Amino acid sequence: MNIRKVVIPVAGWGTRSLPATKNIPKEMLPVYNKPGVQHVVEEAIRSGIQDVVFITNRDKNVIEDHFDYNLQLELVLERAGKTEQLGIIRQVAEMAKVISIRQKKQLGLGHAVLCAEDVVAADGAFAVMVGDDLLFGMNPGIQQLVEVAESEHLPVIGVMEVPQERVDRYGIISGEEISPGLFQVRKLVEKPKVNEAPSRMAIIGRYVLTSEIFGHLRKVQPGHGGEIQLTDALQYQADSRGLLAVKIRGMRFDVGDWAEYLTANIYFAMQDEELRDDLVRHLKPLLP
Ligand code: UTP
Repeated sequence: MNIRKVVIPVAGWGTRSLPATKNIPKEMLPVYNKPGVQHVVEEAIRSGIQDVVFITNRDKNVIEDHFDYNLQLELVLERAGKTEQLGIIRQVAEMAKVISIRQKKQLGLGHAVLCAEDVVAADGAFAVMVGDDLLFGMNPGIQQLVEVAESEHLPVIGVMEVPQERVDRYGIISGEEISPGLFQVRKLVEKPKVNEAPSRMAIIGRYVLTSEIFGHLRKVQPGHGGEIQLTDALQYQADSRGLLAVKIRGMRFDVGDWAEYLTANIYFAMQDEELRDDLVRHLKPLLP
């Protein structure tokens, strides 16, 4: 398996994050000094994937623009002698090759992935990274999946253990742990009731899939929330050729959850040596 492309769905409405997301895509909300989606693209690049396929909608052009040159701004920075900032914004424009596909109706994550079929199916295998799920750690999250997919020749999804009272926010898997942190997936349930979840292993927004998934997605009927759920197509995958899950090592933040979004900002600021002391000084009086 040679993973060259990553599909990043960013076409959702972001209703949990209103009013912030009335006119700004949720994926463009800054996490420390860059939009959340830039962290996602950087994770792909650190994993050796440079072709990014955004699944977008009519109001999200600003995401593609972020990864393109802004010649006017470059000129302003050049004239002002702001070479460091100039380098930073050029580097963002050059970090990835971008392909955009419109999802004309927001019919769910599974439908968003289906929109990428014409662009990625010929590759055989490809990555999917959810545009509002941030993962940080020593090894890029998607790379942990790519390594397993390449050695096992099977699609792989990323999972993390979550507290029991939060299982109803995720797709939950069950199966056998075939080696430490690696599962053969048997069952997947989207947002189960807290007392009905088959485990606490939650699917987070990282996947390495093969073109088989498109056939499965076409069979899926609208499920939880009336959406075409990727989780339901993954059940077909698990029942046919098989599906693996890797317990991802790292920290994970959902930009669509305010507590996690704000924590992600603090986490990043704490990594910046210059900012850390200042931040702690400002935060201390606010602590109970
Ligand atoms: P979410 O369910 O977290 O995003 O989907 P949402 O629908 O935008 O958010 P809320 O629940 O209304 O606040 C995960 C990712 O999948 C994308 C979203 O943009 C987000 O990055 N998505 C979701 C699509 O691209 N298309 C869809 O139809 C649904």
